[in-house]
Amino acid sequence: MKKIFLTLLTVTILMACTQSQSKEEAALDHKVDSVLRLMTLDEKIGQMVLYSSDWDVTGPTLKKGYIDDIRNGNCGNIFNAYTAAYTRKLQKVAVEESRMHIPLLFGYDVIHGHKTIFPICLGESTSWDLKAIEKSARVAGSEAAASGINWTFAPMCDISVEPRWGRVSEGAGEDPYLGSKIAAARVRGFQGNDLGDTLTILACVKHFAGYGAPLAGRDYNTVDMSERVFLDTYLPPYKAAIDAGAMSVMTSFNELFGVPASGSHYLLTDILRTKLGFKGFVVTDYTSMNEMVNHGVAANEADAGLLSIKAGVDMDMQGEVYFKYLKKQVQDGLVADKMINDAVRRILRVKFMLGLFRDPYLYCNEAREKRELYSPAHLEAALDVAKKSMVLLKNENHTLPLRKGEKIAVIGELATSTRDLLGSWKAAGDWNFMKSIVDELRAFNGESNVMYSPGCKTNGEDRSGFAAAITTARKADKIVVVMGESADMSGEATSRTSINIPGVQTELLQQLKALNKPIVVVLMNGRPLDLSKETTLATSILEVWFPGTMGGKAITQVLFGEYNPSGKLTMTFPRNLGQVPIYYYEKNTGRPIYIPDPKYKSRYIDSPNDPLFPFGFGLSYTTFAYSDIRLSTKELSDKGELKATVNMTNTGGVTGEEVVQCYVRDLVGSVTRPVKELKGFEKITLKAGENRNVTFTITPDMLAFHRLDMTYGTEPGDYKLFIGGNSRDVKETGFKLVK
Ligand code: NOJ
Repeated sequence: MKKIFLTLLTVTILMACTQSQSKEEAALDHKVDSVLRLMTLDEKIGQMVLYSSDWDVTGPTLKKGYIDDIRNGNCGNIFNAYTAAYTRKLQKVAVEESRMHIPLLFGYDVIHGHKTIFPICLGESTSWDLKAIEKSARVAGSEAAASGINWTFAPMCDISVEPRWGRVSEGAGEDPYLGSKIAAARVRGFQGNDLGDTLTILACVKHFAGYGAPLAGRDYNTVDMSERVFLDTYLPPYKAAIDAGAMSVMTSFNELFGVPASGSHYLLTDILRTKLGFKGFVVTDYTSMNEMVNHGVAANEADAGLLSIKAGVDMDMQGEVYFKYLKKQVQDGLVADKMINDAVRRILRVKFMLGLFRDPYLYCNEAREKRELYSPAHLEAALDVAKKSMVLLKNENHTLPLRKGEKIAVIGELATSTRDLLGSWKAAGDWNFMKSIVDELRAFNGESNVMYSPGCKTNGEDRSGFAAAITTARKADKIVVVMGESADMSGEATSRTSINIPGVQTELLQQLKALNKPIVVVLMNGRPLDLSKETTLATSILEVWFPGTMGGKAITQVLFGEYNPSGKLTMTFPRNLGQVPIYYYEKNTGRPIYIPDPKYKSRYIDSPNDPLFPFGFGLSYTTFAYSDIRLSTKELSDKGELKATVNMTNTGGVTGEEVVQCYVRDLVGSVTRPVKELKGFEKITLKAGENRNVTFTITPDMLAFHRLDMTYGTEPGDYKLFIGGNSRDVKETGFKLVK
């Protein structure tokens, strides 16, 4: 009886919620329509354009006179403008001088922080700490929101297995499951529960879609993959971000299935709106509408605009195509009024949700800006994420952690560069505000215990500093070489044909090795690199990515064991470029490497198949033991669940964190299935000697995929289940999915 009553109560509450929600929705639609009704066609098109201010340059063209456009109702949205004072000035023009008084959206690439810069996104992903990642986005959002910005062009949800592509630094790595969790966490962080809150901003899911798979890793290049791969591997993170409530989506520069994304009805309408149920607005990437002429699907910009509006693009970033041609196309009957009205409705709706009609200056509060930017709590959060993002790749003879008072020689130009610590897309981050690695090491270990010599530049052939570096290193107990890529080698338009460490840095490392002292490499980079030489030369390698404003301190704390590293790779590190693309969820092929035939199998004649460091890999200053896996059942039924448990023990001498990872393999399918797929992970902390159980729950929906006939669902049969500390070293068992 009690049960029935409770069920009825729940149903009633749910119905009431849905009704009040739809009442709210209806009220919102009513408000939007009341504005739309008063607008001229020119003013409507004005809402459908986005122009860059001249405060930052993030693309090839700049339009002059955007302030006049705002005044005339020809521009409803601005990006690359920030600070409370400047955005207030522009907003004032929109709401006090334009006829319709419609407030502006202010967009900016707040990618891994606004003023307080967090590690690059690839680095954040290696923390596998969803709460920390959400917090990072929340901090970035609240700082941006205090600086006049109400819209960030993030999260980037592009899966990538392409280290040559510079933008892997902006993503969450190669895995669709982890990528989805991170995409959702970042949307929650930026948008919070209420877009109208003064601490939250609008998120933008980008780049829709498939941008992370450019052929040969060359940015903006053609993307070509099967629809099944797209749906099963590349789509899930975008979907997760939309399910988490993201209200804007950015198209990508690339073509997919032969059609540039900014003109793809399949992507923007069939997939995005119909299949994923997206209710927000779609903006192009920077001039990508115009670029459809270069792609060769439109004879001129006017035709490109037609393709875009018909595909489902609501807003033109920087291209001036809608501004120049849309009005005439409507007047000529080529574009229906309804298309324009729907697009403007979607944009105005978001402006209402952001609270801009309530108070257009909501995001332009100088007092709040002073309070928020670089607040102690934000710096603390950035330090926390930076430490969690570092991955210990090698640690021979317990070289790390360093002991306080040890004499160390620090070598490398990157050790004194604060600019490089910030990485690409540093938003409003200020490298004059921060301390370098050498400064922080000296503050911790004492001036006289930390000697420094640059040795060589990050890029270039100059070896004239080698001798001084070697002399300095000779005087030390341990050598710390800070090496890798400079910040400008990552991000947009930074593809490389080599994934080696640039310049003569490795040559210097080789010469330092001759001193026979322990060498710690602190590696800064935005992509997986070929570290095959460096792993033989260094005693320890700590991957620190581009760790942000608090990077110097975070590195110091990890090197000296104040924090025990816990990061795990989210992209496979190959042995050489020839192995690329290489990723853990590969297919088995008909001639896998383990067949006994000496010749005719899927392998190289000059390199092993396996990577240098697999997906999920990362060491700690302690060690962990995994028990065998216990399953709650050997048969997973259609509506059932299966629990897989391991007992974890910290077998080392200090407290440590471990990311316990659970993978499955579908052994026989109507189409071939990956050899492993991540299905769960948990980051746990164990004191020395402590043990605890970790349990993963597997339900049938987690095993669904696009089957032979392209329907989405499961197939009964045998599965393997693996649990381990990376995708290679795992315990293994099996279960059956039954119908
Ligand atoms: C082009 C980039 O692809 C995109 O990620 C960015 O948001 C825009 N430029 C705006 O800066």
